[in-house]
Amino acid sequence: MQNFPNIPTTLPKWTDDIEKNLINCYKFVFENFKDNSKLLVHSIATGCVMKDLAARLSPENKKNWFIAGLMHDIDIPWDPTEKYHGTLAASELEKAGFPSIICQAIADHPYGKNNDILPRALYSADPVTGLVVAAFLILPSKSIQDLKLSSLKKRFKEKRFAAGANREQIKRIEELGINLEEFLELSLEAMKNTENMWWRLKEPHWSELF
Ligand SMILES: [Fe+2]
Ligand SMILES: [Fe+2]
Repeated sequence: MQNFPNIPTTLPKWTDDIEKNLINCYKFVFENFKDNSKLLVHSIATGCVMKDLAARLSPENKKNWFIAGLMHDIDIPWDPTEKYHGTLAASELEKAGFPSIICQAIADHPYGKNNDILPRALYSADPVTGLVVAAFLILPSKSIQDLKLSSLKKRFKEKRFAAGANREQIKRIEELGINLEEFLELSLEAMKNTENMWWRLKEPHWSELF
């Protein structure tokens, strides 16, 4: 048993109603990251990339994949040194009754050792959002809508650009049968289409998203 830090908040309990889970998780992430807009955008963006990956790889599980992306970094405010990153979040989610595949994917996302498709997808979706954000923030307009796939591909090859976005980790999406260029395109489109979700706590139109 690891000696985890105390958690200053209560996670939403998983219910049989997936719509309710979506709304609860979305609200939780807004509340949990209200002082960290970077992490908020990263979390929502990762959820949106995961949703579009699920559309290709596991269409009946789009909502679960979205939730895995949305919640994957929730333990960062509770454990700023990231000593227990992933395992702490997974342990709390497990207690709240979240499906075990979501917990496993979140526990594994810093490591990439779990070969099931959801964990494998999350492992690559996590860094790709950082690359996309860095690539549009250096545009004169600072708008994702102006970022072209060709410049995202170029940025991918520049190893020193957004060096924290691990290129090998992104590239491992190919193990799921999606080539790198397709993945960059899917991620860019997923983030462009959901930009309005990043900035305000507004009930997203879930029916349009899924
Ligand atoms: Fe993380
Ligand atoms: Fe992350």
